[in-house]
Amino acid sequence: MGDKITVPHILKMKQRGEKITCLTAYDYSLARILDQAGVEILLVGDSLGCVVQGGPNTLSVTLDEMIYHTRAVARGRKRALVIGDMPFLSYQVSREQALQNAGRFFKEAGAEAIKVEGGVTVRDSIHAIVSAGMPVMGHVGLTPQSVHQFGGYKIQGREQHRREAVLRDALAVEEAGAFAVVLEAMPLDLAQEITERLTIPTIGIGAGMHCDGQVLVIHDMLGLFEDFTPKFVKQFADIKSAVSGAVKEFISEVKEKSFPAEEHSFK
Ligand code: KIV
Repeated sequence: MGDKITVPHILKMKQRGEKITCLTAYDYSLARILDQAGVEILLVGDSLGCVVQGGPNTLSVTLDEMIYHTRAVARGRKRALVIGDMPFLSYQVSREQALQNAGRFFKEAGAEAIKVEGGVTVRDSIHAIVSAGMPVMGHVGLTPQSVHQFGGYKIQGREQHRREAVLRDALAVEEAGAFAVVLEAMPLDLAQEITERLTIPTIGIGAGMHCDGQVLVIHDMLGLFEDFTPKFVKQFADIKSAVSGAVKEFISEVKEKSFPAEEHSFK
């Protein structure tokens, strides 16, 4: 299966030109499957606010909920690097707040890194967290916690001034000491420029093929979430149909009394 994935390992993958894979995970059972399949990073994303909790966005997710899910994922991980996502308003208020809350992912949940959204505005907090020995992954471009400021989930960096702002954010994240950065929903040539200018790996989602790695929300790539499907999602499996088929079979076997059979019963 290979060695345990660590932060230095992820940095070396960029230097070797090896693509990095990252998927979101929110619970023990699925984390175990993804880990055993060989994905390098398990991101406990605050996207769970939509795909697990059914909310309209990620804003209502709490720190306690993130700690709960990160702990479950960490229990299912043997090899992958587990990253906990800091939820809205758990790091934006002050550097001290960011540091305290980041620490909970390591002390209480078994995370090996945390992720924060934003660039220039969170530079000081990233620096404080990294200085305390906690690896940070940045996230720039379409940062879902700022959905209301963007006026929806829109591609970022199309206009020249926005392009420069996204680039500045990515550079600020690297300068602050982050070990990787998510590039979300931006033109592929902007993601390419950022990837070439940064020494830390870029992990793209809707940012094209030039990023050092790719991340997808597991519910999207397995066909489990149908409220909305962004253009950048590729559905690698149709698990909804598999679940629905199995459930229909269970219902009909119970109704027609063929399940449980003798082999499922005790004497
Ligand atoms: O919350 C999340 O799942 C994320 C990824 C989509 C990068 O931030």
